[in-house]
Amino acid sequence: RLLIVDFGSQVTQLIARRLRELNVYCEIHPFQNVTRDFLSDFAPRAVILSGGPASVPDDGSPRPPAEIFDLGVPVLGICYGQQVMQHMLGGEVKRGEGTAEFGRAYVTPKAKLELLEGWFDGLEATGREQVWMSHGDHVSRLAPGFEVYGTSPNAPYAITADTERHFYAVQFHPEVHHTPKGARLYENFVRLAGFSGDWTMGAYREQAIAAIREQVGDAKVICGLSGGVDSSVAAVLIHEAIGDQLTCVFVDHGLLRQGEAEEVVTMFRDHYNMPLIHADEQDLFLSALEGVSDPETKRKTIGRLFIDVFQKHAGEVGGAEFLAQGTLYPDVIESVSFSGGPSVTIKSHHNVGGLPEKMGLKLVEPLRELFKDEVRALGRELGLPRSFIGRHPFPGPGLAIRCPGEITREKLAILRKADAVYIDQIRRHGLYDEIWQAFVAILPVRTVGVMGDGRTYDYACALRAVTSVDGMTADYYPFTHEFLGETATRIINEVKGINRVTYDITSKPPGTIEWE
Ligand code: XMP
Repeated sequence: RLLIVDFGSQVTQLIARRLRELNVYCEIHPFQNVTRDFLSDFAPRAVILSGGPASVPDDGSPRPPAEIFDLGVPVLGICYGQQVMQHMLGGEVKRGEGTAEFGRAYVTPKAKLELLEGWFDGLEATGREQVWMSHGDHVSRLAPGFEVYGTSPNAPYAITADTERHFYAVQFHPEVHHTPKGARLYENFVRLAGFSGDWTMGAYREQAIAAIREQVGDAKVICGLSGGVDSSVAAVLIHEAIGDQLTCVFVDHGLLRQGEAEEVVTMFRDHYNMPLIHADEQDLFLSALEGVSDPETKRKTIGRLFIDVFQKHAGEVGGAEFLAQGTLYPDVIESVSFSGGPSVTIKSHHNVGGLPEKMGLKLVEPLRELFKDEVRALGRELGLPRSFIGRHPFPGPGLAIRCPGEITREKLAILRKADAVYIDQIRRHGLYDEIWQAFVAILPVRTVGVMGDGRTYDYACALRAVTSVDGMTADYYPFTHEFLGETATRIINEVKGINRVTYDITSKPPGTIEWE
């Protein structure tokens, strides 16, 4: 296994991700925990020293134990890791004065190095490769045994190595996407360290299960199940680890799609045999929403009631000590890097962030290290149905925000039917997986139509379908006119209450994905 010593960089987890992509097993440990004893227990086959915010010349700046360089295994230092390595092995690091580099930079090769195999290929024209830098300090004198293999304008020692001892040190961040060939560098490093790349999601599952058992012991855990991919994968994984010590709470707020509640209950209760509380609170939510048409008031009403209801039902379990959440790694980075920044509330997101403190519960977050596509891979590994894993995201406030204006049961019933026809159309045409999210919004206007020989006065609806990578920006999906025409005809024929269909061609920004 490979040890990543974390000095606090924002992107340390990305190193782990790159290694998982190479099917190499690694563990991240904060530098404080990496002691001499730890090292001899862990017995890593290779070590990576991460970046970090500290400055090597400062008193008390973090260091790994010196023994890390006596293990006889390859070591790769990145950014701060590179500087600390140079410093400890006899080089010198200077505080940045006019030598800082943030963002894109270009490295020019100086000599051949196994770590860089294939790295500078195809660069004959420019002779340089793009990398991502983020440093103030820089190495000013190399440690004995090291040579320079690449330079950038502000980092004369951008790539250095002691090939005898297999120590490699780079100033840039090979783990980020803006270093396009960074993955190649990791691939070469793990090959040099002798990893065969046979570690899999199956192994991750075993390891995550062991970690959950250790954290939870014989305590009880509750988990809010939304029917979405993240909470479902988290629940199945935790159930596999601790069985009936886990109880799931599924809140049905009456704003779910057609057949959704039954599907969730059948799958988790009948198929997975999990203790599941099906909190049917439709009346509570729908009566609280009566007469409410302001989007923020709707969102806040739903959020507040959700917390109350969840708390009430979770209380039925009695004596739970943990709350399980399907937090993903991007949620973790975002909350770190954007904390405290001035930002405007566009929409109050429905989340249960305040729940653990309110209920005095500790958190179990087994997906914290994973990205969305890795959660899907883990879901497949756990045997969750394909249709479930590939599902489009669905917002916490559900259909409420797809029903601009006042919500009524009648409108919700119409919306559910129209949405089911639309999604069926998309699936029939094999487009579901190309689209990030697709849904129908029922509009608060009625329009006049003619069907058969009669006049109709029914609701209009809007179809929405977008492509996106992360939901932050989005573009509308370019359906063919034929598809749109066929879908409109089906909705009008099959859904009583709708006599007009429109297609929303707004991107985000300026629009948002949901209508409210
Ligand atoms: P917007 O409408 O802001 O949506 O462009 C971006 C993505 O977030 C989803 N969304 C939510 N998800 N709670 C959620 O869990 C919410 O309150 C919420 N509001 C929007 C939306 O479906 C899209 O995927």
